[in-house]
Amino acid sequence: MACPHELILGLCDETHIAELKMKRNIQSAEAVMPRSLVTKTSTFRKWILLTLLLWFWNCIEYDVNTFIFNEMHFPFKKYYFTFLLMLAGKVALITGGANGLGECTAKLFAKHGAKIILADIQCELGHVVSEAIGSANSRFVHCDVSKEEDVKNTVDIAVKTYGKLDIVFNNAGILDPTKASITDNKKEDFDRVLSVNVTGVFLGMKHAARVMVPARSGSIISMSSIASEVGGIASHAYTCSKHAIVGLTKNLAVELGQFGIRVNCLSPYAMFTPLANNSGKTDGKTFENISNSYGNLKGVTLTTNDVANAALFLASNDAKYISGHNLHVDGRFSLASTANIFKNEENHDPTVEKWFI
Ligand SMILES: NC(=O)c1ccc[n+]([C@@H]2O[C@H](COP(=O)([O-])OP(=O)(O)OC[C@H]3O[C@@H](n4cnc5c(N)ncnc54)[C@H](O)[C@@H]3O)[C@@H](O)[C@H]2O)c1
Repeated sequence: MACPHELILGLCDETHIAELKMKRNIQSAEAVMPRSLVTKTSTFRKWILLTLLLWFWNCIEYDVNTFIFNEMHFPFKKYYFTFLLMLAGKVALITGGANGLGECTAKLFAKHGAKIILADIQCELGHVVSEAIGSANSRFVHCDVSKEEDVKNTVDIAVKTYGKLDIVFNNAGILDPTKASITDNKKEDFDRVLSVNVTGVFLGMKHAARVMVPARSGSIISMSSIASEVGGIASHAYTCSKHAIVGLTKNLAVELGQFGIRVNCLSPYAMFTPLANNSGKTDGKTFENISNSYGNLKGVTLTTNDVANAALFLASNDAKYISGHNLHVDGRFSLASTANIFKNEENHDPTVEKWFI
């Protein structure tokens, strides 16, 4: 049997060379099979590992990116990780930010790189939310949105603290007790709801415009409700106030369009929050079951995260050409609603009593 060195030295004859070639081919064929199997196995392992890594990254990406963006200091950092953060470098003021939808939105905006001013009348809760976000990136300001001095002061604090104001989310809102008949309604309840839900939004818009017009940019979002579209699902005062927000939004979008400022509002369906349960009539599960039974889109339950995501979209550059819009977050409940809180004793629906928007 010839060896490689014999071959190289030309010491073997033709037969030996043929034998050797055949042997080599066989050997290489034997070698190829296991090697390909090994390659396949390792590719499979790599895919599993990559999938796991992607899943893990998906779980932590906002936190990691937010941490890198907000906490770390290195040159040109704004060019590194900002592509994943929808509000990197923005400053947002959120009214009613101590609880419910406002709190959820504030946390989401902060995760996307925004500095947050939380404005609310609930100081203790407001400070807790601010601490959860991190004091470097948020600040709580006591502000009753129905008082102009408070709103003016809050906007000024935002500009003084962070140098500018890019986003104002007029989210604070209240509800009055639902009465079966308009004749049972009290004027003071009506006035109170309008002073927060309408005057509060008007003041938020006015003072946002005061600082956004000179900057020639900004996004103003206000919280309406699907009660701005559908009758018979909330009190007269609340329904009236949410219609007014849509009107203010359209009018201001026209006025501020010339300065590049976008003005929109959100109209969600029902979610279980402290406001939705202000009467304390029900627990979260019962509330959601009733909401889902009246809802149009089956198999899903509306949560505060869904509305916060809609607010994030409107606040971000992804919505750069959207203005004067009333974005329904209602699974199209408004097209199919049969709910009616005003039904009298003869055709009364006991479930709807525990539920409203
Ligand atoms: N929960 C729902 O089902 C639902 C549906 C549609 C629209 N909305 C609207 O969403 C907004 C937030 O509602 P929520 O469910 O999170 O309610 P919530 O009661 O949980 O939160 C409202 C926040 O606004 C604050 N607030 C009340 N009056 C204020 C004032 N005068 N000045 C400043 N802050 C004030 C409250 O302290 C509270 O923190 C409201 O405008 C509400 O009308 C709620």
